[in-house]
Formats: sequence, C-alpha cells, structure tokens
Amino acid sequence: MKILVTGGAGYIGSIVSAMLVDAGHSVVAIDDLSTSDASGVPAGVEFIRCDISQVATVLTPDSGFDAVLHFAGLIAAGESVQKPGLYWHVNTGGSLSLLVAMRAAGVRKIVFLVLRRGLRQPDAGADPGIRDGRRADQPVR
Ligand SMILES: NC(=O)c1ccc[n+]([C@@H]2O[C@H](COP(=O)([O-])OP(=O)(O)OC[C@H]3O[C@@H](n4cnc5c(N)ncnc54)[C@H](O)[C@@H]3O)[C@@H](O)[C@H]2O)c1
Repeated sequence: MKILVTGGAGYIGSIVSAMLVDAGHSVVAIDDLSTSDASGVPAGVEFIRCDISQVATVLTPDSGFDAVLHFAGLIAAGESVQKPGLYWHVNTGGSLSLLVAMRAAGVRKIVFLVLRRGLRQPDAGADPGIRDGRRADQPVR
C-alpha cells in the first residue's frame, strides 16, 4: 500500500513508518518539524516538510495514497492549558484539514491516536483509577 504518515519525524510516527517500510509498504511522511527534526525520519521513507494544515498539497486526488496514519500534533498537556488556541488550531483544525483532503482524494482509511491524558471525566470522585481529576481509560461523555 501507499501510506501517508503525518508526524512522521515524531516518536510514534517514525517508529510506525519504519515498521511499514519493513513490511514492504510505500511510505510518505509529512511533518513541520516544530517539535522534532528530520533525523528521526527512517531510511526508505519519502519525507516532505509540511504543516498539517497544508496536507492537501501532498494528499492530492492523483497522489495514489491508500491510507493515512495520523500522528502529527502537539502533545504537551501543560502547554495545551496555556495555549488552548494553538492546540485547537493544530490538533483539531489540522485533523479536519486532513479529513477534508482525504475526502477530496477518495482515501477512506485512517488510523489515529489521541493523548489519553487529554481526556477528563468531570465526576471523577474518589475513583482510584483517577489521578489529578483525570481518568485514562474512559472517554469524555
Ligand atoms: N507517545 C506516546 O506514548 C503516545 C501515547 C498515546 C497517544 N499518543 C499520540 O500519538 C500522537 C503522536 O505522539 P508522539 O509521541 O509521536 O508525539 P511527537 O511530538 O513525538 O510527534 C508529533 C509530531 O507532530 C509534528 N507536528 C506538530 N505540529 C505539526 C503541524 N502543525 N504540522 C505537521 N506536523 C506537526 C511534530 O513536529 C512531531 O514530529 C499524538 O497525537 C499523541 O497524543 C502518543
């Protein structure tokens, strides 16, 4: 398969990209290198420096991608509280840009991760599974 990996210079993206190449897939990685550097991109991966908001310039209707693995984003929980607008723009807006580009290109397969520490359960109570009012194993309802 021809696979687009977003955040391909980051921790998860670089490991997954290497595994995909080893499995015989054709991998294109995009990353804006805002919290990483290109040395993290594994051999055998075509790297394109690109902000996720501009992903449609790579994921074009004639690009031939079969699937997307989405790992681009900002992940610092503390910073997300200090800069919610930035995190909304990159994580939510960037993901929407990706979905729009996928629809235009006819790509229907996507895998993505969320940061569990970003999920919060308001009625945390005294549940021993919750630390600092955050629960790791249940989504917000
Ligand atoms: N590392 C973990 O243990 C873990 C666990 C669960 C979920 N996740 C999730 O997996 C995803 C990736 O995590 P990670 O640990 O690899 O993070 P990471 O910071 O190592 O990688 C994220 C990459 O996204 C890139 N990026 C940031 N903003 C961008 C933008 N606007 N456009 C393009 N690229 C941009 C960064 O430069 C970086 O290379 C995140 O959504 C994270 O919440 C990670």
